[in-house]
Amino acid sequence: MDTKQAIIAALQPFAQSDEAALQDWLETPKDANMGDLCLPCFRLAKILRKNPNSIAQDLQAVLPTIAGVAKVEAVGGYLNFCYDKTDFAAKLLEKVLTEKERYGAADIGQGRNVCVEFSSINIAKPFHIGHLPSTAIGNSLYRIYNFLGYNAIGINHLGDWGTQFGKMIVAYKLWGDRPVTEYSVRELVALYVRYHEEAEKQPELNLDDQARAAFKQIEAGDPDAIALWKEFVAVSMNEAARVYQRLGVHFDSFAGESFYEDKMPTVIAELRGKGILKTDQGAEIVDLSDYNMPPCIILKKDGSTIYATRDLAAACYRKETYDFVRSLYVVAYQQDLHFRQFFKVLELMDKEWMKDCEHVNFGMVSMEDGTLKTRQGNVTYLDDVLDAAVAKARELMREKSPDLADVDAAAETVGVGALIWGVLYKNRIKDTSFSWAKALNFDGETGPYAQYTHARCCSVLRKAVGLDIGTPDYACLCDPHSAALLRAIAAFPAAIVAAAEKNEPYLVARAVMAVATAYNKFYYENRILGEVSCVCAARLLVTDAARITIANGLNLLGITAPERM
Ligand code: ARG
Repeated sequence: MDTKQAIIAALQPFAQSDEAALQDWLETPKDANMGDLCLPCFRLAKILRKNPNSIAQDLQAVLPTIAGVAKVEAVGGYLNFCYDKTDFAAKLLEKVLTEKERYGAADIGQGRNVCVEFSSINIAKPFHIGHLPSTAIGNSLYRIYNFLGYNAIGINHLGDWGTQFGKMIVAYKLWGDRPVTEYSVRELVALYVRYHEEAEKQPELNLDDQARAAFKQIEAGDPDAIALWKEFVAVSMNEAARVYQRLGVHFDSFAGESFYEDKMPTVIAELRGKGILKTDQGAEIVDLSDYNMPPCIILKKDGSTIYATRDLAAACYRKETYDFVRSLYVVAYQQDLHFRQFFKVLELMDKEWMKDCEHVNFGMVSMEDGTLKTRQGNVTYLDDVLDAAVAKARELMREKSPDLADVDAAAETVGVGALIWGVLYKNRIKDTSFSWAKALNFDGETGPYAQYTHARCCSVLRKAVGLDIGTPDYACLCDPHSAALLRAIAAFPAAIVAAAEKNEPYLVARAVMAVATAYNKFYYENRILGEVSCVCAARLLVTDAARITIANGLNLLGITAPERM
């Protein structure tokens, strides 16, 4: 039984509360001087019909001694429990070192499905820096849910359908000079830009009519039109695959907007059957004025479907296919209204599972110095940003670690890690502005700092290989620096659970940073190697536990933990 369980068992009869409630109420005090666990006694005021102060005092007086607890103290309306530090260290280290890469994992999900839709790039359009938060946050949530025992389904809802593909076909037929497969996405985007320029300059060409006709052909399954469309998709997906590989991202499904083409009629029929559809100037809409929202358009005047129609079909498909307990959409806050509208339509359709759908929104990203933009417009391609981050990391590594064997691999790890960390180390909803100096600072609260701390732990452990170290003496882990480090390591599993509850990977990043910072203080204040063997052994165990915790945390963020850097 761990110490918290022992405390709960001891409290139960006196608190007249069940185990689950106490489990929920006991918290970790922010200030380590207030102990390791505390019970805010106002929780019991109603049950015991006393004020929190007297409850705390009475409980302190009646509680028997609890295994692993050194001191119980009533402070104001709180009952504080101070662990026996030696016992705490021994139990925690044993747990971390046996669980290893599973430390922090849980079976809360019990194999139930969670859909995590993220990245959702657009075909024949730039894969730009604005897709980084969705990709990084989604990838992290995907890993977090799996780690907590859910079965996460990573979905890339590709923007691969719509009139823009009619325009692409027209542009390609007019100005294309080689097979589509020999084009890069940038070149396809240039064709698209040219299309818009020419359409404006020469209205007499009626390019838009041609484009509409071309998209109709795709919709009708015309083999030539479909073949071209498939090639556009292939070019984009090939390039995207490289970016995803660098970011360590995996998807279980690439069912994009086109996938729902044949699944929309059922949904439209259902809307109609339930009397939710209204005709408005030739279009079919769901009126949302009762909810202070503009109408959700389902079918345009010309009978074509739109983005929202496909999202309705996709939501129903996901429920039928995966029977999810949660369905997340990691999409920028610019689409807040769209999600509120389409969730409301699901509700009007009596889809009670709509309550399990959540728009996991986030802020905008920009580069502080405004570089890396393409000439047409304001787009910053994500692979350019990755390349630049890696190049800067390489410069830095050459200077800081001239003896490193594989600088290129390390630079890739550090550069990419710095970018992902930059997006995840703050509340989702805040905008991100990258400054290379800040993102790659080895001393700030950055990805490289966390990675560096991991490499430092590995290096300490490497040096200890083959040393004759005796039995660890846990009593020597009671100094404030060791105690703070152990506390940070112990807090890690709860941070993962909280991150999933709030869909906020930041909480994991913060827990990793807490361990990294505490480890470095511990490292500077305590000699590890060259100590008496029982002290050295104990400190090596803490080093290993810090290494494991940082590695697991970085892994949940989708960041590589290097052994050397
Ligand atoms: N492809 C869209 C874009 O880049 C994002 C799709 C978001 N997902 C959704 N189910 N609507 O704007």
